[in-house]
Amino acid sequence: MILPHERAHRSGVTEFTPPGAVRAAEARLAEAIGLAASIGVAIVHTAILPLRERRPSTLMGEGQVSALKDALEEQDVGVVVVDAALTPVQQRNLERAWGTKVIDRVGLILEIFGERARTREGSMQVELAHLSYQRTRLVRSWTHLERQRGGFGFLGGPGESQIEIDRRLIDERIVRIKRELEQVRRTRGLHRRAREKVPYPIIALVGYTNAGKSTLFNALTGAGVYAENQLFATLDPTMRQIRLPSGRTAILSDTVGFISELPTQLVEAFRATLEEVAAADIILHVRDAAHPDSAAQRADVLGVLHDMSEGADAALDEEWPRRVLEVLNKSDLLRGREPPGLAVSALTGDGLDQLLGEIDARLAAGLEMVEYAIPAGDGARIAWLHRHAEVLQTQGEDDVLRIAVRIPATARARFEKMTGPEAPQGANDP
Ligand code: GTP
Repeated sequence: MILPHERAHRSGVTEFTPPGAVRAAEARLAEAIGLAASIGVAIVHTAILPLRERRPSTLMGEGQVSALKDALEEQDVGVVVVDAALTPVQQRNLERAWGTKVIDRVGLILEIFGERARTREGSMQVELAHLSYQRTRLVRSWTHLERQRGGFGFLGGPGESQIEIDRRLIDERIVRIKRELEQVRRTRGLHRRAREKVPYPIIALVGYTNAGKSTLFNALTGAGVYAENQLFATLDPTMRQIRLPSGRTAILSDTVGFISELPTQLVEAFRATLEEVAAADIILHVRDAAHPDSAAQRADVLGVLHDMSEGADAALDEEWPRRVLEVLNKSDLLRGREPPGLAVSALTGDGLDQLLGEIDARLAAGLEMVEYAIPAGDGARIAWLHRHAEVLQTQGEDDVLRIAVRIPATARARFEKMTGPEAPQGANDP
C-alpha cells in the first residue's frame, strides 16, 4: 500500500508505441503522477518504458527491471507504482526483484477512492471493489488478510488449502457487504450527514484528474476570500467555508478527480465517492482548457453525471444540468487564445473574481422567502431545509415547527415535490 508521505517511486509503463505517441505517454504519466500526488505520496523518480513485448513474468524486459533496480536503490524508495495492469505473478516478481512494494493502476486508484470515500455507501463500494481485486490475486493476498483481520488460520477445514480458505473468506465478506449495501441504499434518504445540517449552499468541484481542482480550491479559499474553518476543522479537510463578494457564506467541496480508462470494476466505487455532488447547489465543473483532450474529458464528466441521474435509486435529481457551472482553468497556458466561457487560472489568479461573482449571482438568483409548517418529529425534512435553505426563523407551536427560510427556487421545487401533495403543511409565501 502507498502510505501518505512515504517516499515513493513511480514508473510509468507504456506499450511500445511509434515516436508520435510519446506525447500521449507523457500526458498519461502526468495523469498518473497527479493521481499519486493526490494521496500525498512523494514522487522521487519517474520513467516511461517502451515495451517491445509484454513478458508474462515481469511485464517489462529484464534489462529494464535491473536498470530500475539501480535507480530505486539510489533513492530509498518505498513503493513503485506501475501505471498498467499487472498480473499477480508480475507484481510478485517485480517486488522480489526490486525489494519494494509494487502496486498497479487499479491498486493506486483503489487507494485514492478509499481515502476519499465519505459516506458509508462510498466506503462499502470501495471495499467491495478491493475484495474483487484481491480475489483475482490470491497468490499474495493471504498475508494481507491475515494482518488485517487478526489471522484466520484456525478457520480452514481439513484439506482446505490456504487459497481456498482465502477465497471463501473473501466471498463471505463480499456477500455480507452486498447485503449491507442494500440496506444502506434503502435507507439512504433518511441518513443525514453532519454537513447536511450546515445551513450554507454547497459548491462541489468536479473535473478530470489534473484539471486543477485542488489548486482552484486552495486559490478560492485562500486568496482574498475570508475563510473561517472552525466549523470544518474536524469534519473534512476537503470542505472549506468561503465568503463570497456579497458577504454570503458558502461551502466549497473538493471531490475525487475523474480518471480516464477507469477499470470497470471501479466504476461503482467511483460514483459512490461522488455522492456529495448530489447535495451541491452548484456543481463547479473545472476543465483543463489547455489539455488536448479537453472536449472528450468534458463529455466524459457530463456522461458520468448523467448516468448518476438515471435509474430508480439515482443519486442525482434530473435538474442537475442547471446546477453545473463550467470553468475553463489553465487559461494562462492558452497564450492569448480566448476560450469561450468563464476562463480562469488557478495558478495566476486570473479570472477568480469573475468566478466568485458568477457563483454569487447564481446563488442569489431565485432566492425566495417561504414559511413551512412541519411536524416537529420530522427530523429528515427539517434537516433538509437547514441544508438547502437559509433558515431565518424557527417557532414551535405544539408539535409543529414553523420554519421561515430563504430558499433557491430549485430547492423549493424539490422540497415541495418531496413533501408530496397530501402534506403541503401550509407552505405559503409571507
Ligand atoms: P486530482 O487531485 O488528481 O483530481 O487533480 P486536480 O484536479 O486537483 O489538479 P491539481 O490542482 O492537483 O493540479 C494539477 C496540476 O495542474 C498541478 O501541477 C497544478 O500546478 C497545475 N495547475 C492547476 N491550475 C493551473 C493553472 O491555472 N495553470 C497552470 N499552468 N497550471 C495549473
